Amino acid sequence: MKETGKNRGLRRRFFPVSNRSCLLPGSVPDEGDKHLKNGLPEKLRLLIFDEEAVRMSDQSESEEKSEVQSCEFAKSTRRTFLSRLGMAGLLASARPVASAVEESSGKEQVLSPESKDAIPVTLRVNGEKYDLRIDPRTTLLDCLREHLHLTGSKKGCDHGQCGACTVHINGRRVNSCLCLAAMHEDEEITTVEGIGQPGNLHAVQAAFLAHDAYQCGYCTSGQIMSAVALLKEPCGSEDAEVKEFMSGNICRCGAYPNIVAAIQSVRQNPKPKAG
Ligand code: FES
Ligand code: FES
Repeated sequence: MKETGKNRGLRRRFFPVSNRSCLLPGSVPDEGDKHLKNGLPEKLRLLIFDEEAVRMSDQSESEEKSEVQSCEFAKSTRRTFLSRLGMAGLLASARPVASAVEESSGKEQVLSPESKDAIPVTLRVNGEKYDLRIDPRTTLLDCLREHLHLTGSKKGCDHGQCGACTVHINGRRVNSCLCLAAMHEDEEITTVEGIGQPGNLHAVQAAFLAHDAYQCGYCTSGQIMSAVALLKEPCGSEDAEVKEFMSGNICRCGAYPNIVAAIQSVRQNPKPKAG
């Protein structure tokens, strides 16, 4: 118990000076107490004179024990770590051998697009038809980037939260990281590569350039694809409504004011000279 001004006053009022250190834990023993202290075992003396000190003594003993235990634990952890490290090295060097053994036994180890689980998929992307064999679990984003090498669509979060992967399917914007490629056969898929080319930019692409609506550019293809889709959506004329409609596209560089200005410039002047 912590001694405060209030309980110090109570103590002085109700307990004589000679035994108050017996009754109030943590207090300094009085002169009369010293006689009692002599000849008593340490623990008993502490018990009589200072319960708090006993508690602290027990606590320090248990702390010492736990310190010893933690030292032992640290030693065993270091030992365990070193032995695991050695084991990992062994496993790493043994892996090619194990693989060779398994390969020689004729087991199929890797699921590739050519494996028996791959399925034929036909996609129409930017007006071109592609016949592919892909793992049925392949997302549209991975299919575009890894199989068709259309790397304009970016992978930001891979969880449908940033909009960097935005493409159009039949004219509607979607997060391609959330779509399975195999589910979009016979649909018209458009990526940022399909809406404009250098020398023949889409009006939105030209407006982004003119308004400096990007910094690192990582989000920009997704922003442009959303902005192009927004032109056909029932979006009000105010900046606030544009911001709301573009809220699925995150820009970590914070180029939002310029992005909104670029989109508004296209909406107010639908056919600017494209660069
Ligand atoms: Fe698709 Fe972020 S990568 S939403
Ligand atoms: Fe860098 Fe948007 S320009 S994230």
